[in-house]
Amino acid sequence: MNRIEMVREQVDKILLNVPDNFQRRCGYLHLYGVAQACTMLAMKRNENVELATIAGMLHDIYTYSKMDSTEHAHKGSILAREILSSLSAFSDEEIDLICGAIYHHSDKESSHSAFDEILIDADVLQHCLYNPLFKVAIHEKARFENIKRELGLK
Ligand SMILES: [Fe+2]
Repeated sequence: MNRIEMVREQVDKILLNVPDNFQRRCGYLHLYGVAQACTMLAMKRNENVELATIAGMLHDIYTYSKMDSTEHAHKGSILAREILSSLSAFSDEEIDLICGAIYHHSDKESSHSAFDEILIDADVLQHCLYNPLFKVAIHEKARFENIKRELGLK
């Protein structure tokens, strides 16, 4: 089993335990959706595709594990570190890269390292592509416009 699937197995265990059907559906859509957006943006920007995909899978894991989004980026980076360490398949540097991106992902106003930016943009992209007929949230507008321009979309 490759490392992305190893992480997905752990994420699925957490998502399957989300008691509310609607929240569980949101969890699957959002974590898998952000992971795929991370894959695409990492390919486009020549960043580490595997680790970006994994950061996407884990980025809101605290929210879906505790059903509490308070400080979820910071708390989620700790939980993601526990999950990744338990798999004994990642180096300390790889875990630091993934968990650093998770730690910073709620801070959408400022810009971060190239790797961290992938997760922040992928989070915005999944929200905006979920239903293109919905209004884009004000705080995501500028990033969404930049991503569309980068991808050659209108
Ligand atoms: Fe998210």
